[in-house]
Amino acid sequence: MSQMQPFSTGTDAGAPPAGPCVLVIFGATGDLTKRKLIPALYNLLKGGLLPKEFAVVGLGATEIDTPHFRDRIAAEMQKFATVPVEPAEWDWLAQRIYYLAGDFDSPPLYDRLRELLPKVDSECGTQGNYLFYLATNPSLFCAVVQRLGAAGLVDQNNGQWRRVIIEKPFGHDLESARKLNLDIRKVLEEKQIYRIDHYLGKETVQNLMVFRFGNGIFEPIWNRRYIDHIQITVSEVVGVEQRGRYYEEAGALRDMVANHIFQLLALATMEPPISFDADAVRDEKAKVLRAIQPMSSEEVLAKAVRGQYGPGVLDGQTLPGYRSEFQVSPNSPVETFVALKLSIDNWRWAEVPFYIRAGKRMPKHSTEIAVQFKRAPFQLFRGTHVGRLGSNRLIIRIQPDEGISLQFGAKIPGSSVRIGPVAMDFDYAEYFGNKPNTGYETMLYDSMQGDLTLFNRFDGVEISWSVLTPILDVWSVLPARNFPNYAAGSWGPREAEELMARDGRKWREQE
Ligand code: BG6
Repeated sequence: MSQMQPFSTGTDAGAPPAGPCVLVIFGATGDLTKRKLIPALYNLLKGGLLPKEFAVVGLGATEIDTPHFRDRIAAEMQKFATVPVEPAEWDWLAQRIYYLAGDFDSPPLYDRLRELLPKVDSECGTQGNYLFYLATNPSLFCAVVQRLGAAGLVDQNNGQWRRVIIEKPFGHDLESARKLNLDIRKVLEEKQIYRIDHYLGKETVQNLMVFRFGNGIFEPIWNRRYIDHIQITVSEVVGVEQRGRYYEEAGALRDMVANHIFQLLALATMEPPISFDADAVRDEKAKVLRAIQPMSSEEVLAKAVRGQYGPGVLDGQTLPGYRSEFQVSPNSPVETFVALKLSIDNWRWAEVPFYIRAGKRMPKHSTEIAVQFKRAPFQLFRGTHVGRLGSNRLIIRIQPDEGISLQFGAKIPGSSVRIGPVAMDFDYAEYFGNKPNTGYETMLYDSMQGDLTLFNRFDGVEISWSVLTPILDVWSVLPARNFPNYAAGSWGPREAEELMARDGRKWREQE
């Protein structure tokens, strides 16, 4: 496709720096902080989006002091920064980083935090605005919020704001998510709660809304009259790595579907919101998620497939099975792959199936939404090769190789009518240039700015769990007997292919 002159957006051209604040990280010695949060803050600084009046207070169980903590994260930045680290900029940020060691579930830490924060305010000009980031074990979310409340740290007075970012997983089923919502909403107002899903920080995910609602040509065909079905694939090459303990409690359905995939599904299928105001967008997302038909027990058996990887070979490398991974039970019943057929019960999507799959240890790292359109009537081309032509497809590549491609048929030059599949391709990096980021920049910036649009509201979380809980219930009473049922490095169990084949369809082959 011929493209307009590529242009660079620069670094968030036009966006102002966030307002003064302190980011208080619970879990500051953990993985998320070193891999994502600190590199993301550095990227915000480089992009001119971090306020001058800014500070970080890290909280962790490890008994170290602030200078040691600064040294430690400086060393980690060498490994995890997504752009070269410039000493002057890094020093500026490092000088604004503080550390407190203590137990997240006992009052003394909160007393010390309450003493430290005003000092930070006066040293860094942060004006009493605090953003608490709960990057802890999920079992502590509720306790931390309650203790923050008891210490008076989330009271918003004199124009000072207090917000809390809560990492995933938010609950492990409908009941626990409801309880967590109920408990934290006794302490916080809904607009102080930022339930994060880092998929919504990905440019291509945000672009879904622009693609659908900022262009006039797609919306008229975005419905059951033109779309045959939609597939969402999130395939990862990695296994569970060092996260066996967490994953044994979670499994693929909770880890990927309850949040990331449902967010993709909601953005791909929701009605146009009346504005880009946070609640207008979240209303529409909740509405469409509510229209997903929960499965009966019989339907779970027919429409939900689970898999677990066994040993296998990928790129010549022999890989262990899930049951031999670190901190995983040798007869674990936990799924590392899931495929579902879902229906959305509303006017726009009646009769359109949605096939979603997510798995670890697959042959390719790829997240994409594939929209398959209905075939054209082909009487016109009878007697030619056109009958064999595939349907038109729109592929939205979320990662890697972010972009969008539209596949259609074109006449192969020559005297007979032969049609070949071609694609119009938009490649993010080619068009806008590469902008290395961690995926957390937007989420951090938006929360500092008080923009809740990309964060989950309590009802969205509960609706997702109410769709998935019937599946979890059936799976827990009927543990899979055939695990492991796919080899590491393959596209998942045979049953996932059969799920599609029964409907005369196939998963899109990934090139
Ligand atoms: C996390 C899951 O939320 O998302 C991980 O817990 C998964 O299991 C990860 O690997 C995938 O995120 P990304 O951004 O690498 O696609």
